[in-house]
Amino acid sequence: MTKRTLFTILVLTLLCAAGLSIQATPKAKPAAPSALAGYSESDINAALQAAYTKYKDMKEGKNADYIPALAKVDSNIYGIALVTPDGKIYTAGDVKSEVSIQSISKVFTMAKVFEEQGPEAISGTIGVDATGMRFNSIVSIEISQKVLGGPEMNALVNPGAIAATSMLKGASRDEIWKGLLGWYSDFAGRPLSVNEEVFKSEAETNQRNQAIGMLMLAYGYIKANPDRATDIYTEQCSVSVNAKDLATMAACLANGGKNPVTGKQVIKVEVVPKVLAVMATAGLYDDSGKWLFATGLPGKSGVGGGIIAVSPGKFGIAVISPPLDEAGNSVRAQKAIADISNALGGNPFVSKPR
Ligand code: DON
Repeated sequence: MTKRTLFTILVLTLLCAAGLSIQATPKAKPAAPSALAGYSESDINAALQAAYTKYKDMKEGKNADYIPALAKVDSNIYGIALVTPDGKIYTAGDVKSEVSIQSISKVFTMAKVFEEQGPEAISGTIGVDATGMRFNSIVSIEISQKVLGGPEMNALVNPGAIAATSMLKGASRDEIWKGLLGWYSDFAGRPLSVNEEVFKSEAETNQRNQAIGMLMLAYGYIKANPDRATDIYTEQCSVSVNAKDLATMAACLANGGKNPVTGKQVIKVEVVPKVLAVMATAGLYDDSGKWLFATGLPGKSGVGGGIIAVSPGKFGIAVISPPLDEAGNSVRAQKAIADISNALGGNPFVSKPR
């Protein structure tokens, strides 16, 4: 055996011994860090899983049935998704099933008007104040007009939302609709489409919204074409989404207007705080105060069963579960989001004394 061979055998033996000793005493793997300061990826997954398990068998609430197609949706659908500013998506439960976006769409229509015409286009006309009333209240229009004497509504209740939709620019209904659906899709990070069954069902039963559109025309909040505005509004409410879509849409608002999954700047950075302010004061209708008290998060609900919430700079979150409470907000979604956000330090009102 040459010296060279001996040397090679020696080196190989040492390398093998080192390899064996690494295998024999494995070091504990450090928890993978996340974009959420102070929380690892496993902390986030554990928070989602805990909320999923805790409320999985809950039976409170009832599907919306004033839109007949919504009564037929599976009440057991229950999915949670959270998206951080680095584009990581965390999920628990059923994040594949889709429901209609319903009133959550109002946030993104309002955002489009803000983006293209400036926030004053809505704050100076419809208003940015909570009505404290149900989402389809007609009395709130009368009170705003006759008692409060001015624009004392917001674009997240039906009257303001239909008026906001009427403000969208476009040469034809088709052009307005294509622009709006493309805008929603940019937030979701994939091409969205309409649930035609829900659209038809609501279009056949939305006489109250048609009346709201007419009243908003009578008071000058809608300039023309109230029927077209109500029709586009009804179609926007029928856009089909899953929990991941909604969480990604919320995450754009948590990330300075940039979609953290696709990297596209979908809305101007300075418009985002204006959107979040209206969500904070009016996102859960007459229960908006209770919601803000419990979570500190700007949020928005829809009668399809979804809720989104935004922790600025930290995460966008969404839960889908169709059974609703009296105010029209998903029961499980409210509880799950509150638990998860509290577990992950999501409340923007919390500060540490120094
Ligand atoms: O206009 C309506 O009644 C429905 N398309 C939307 C209402 C809604 O989602 C209220 N949200 N909680």
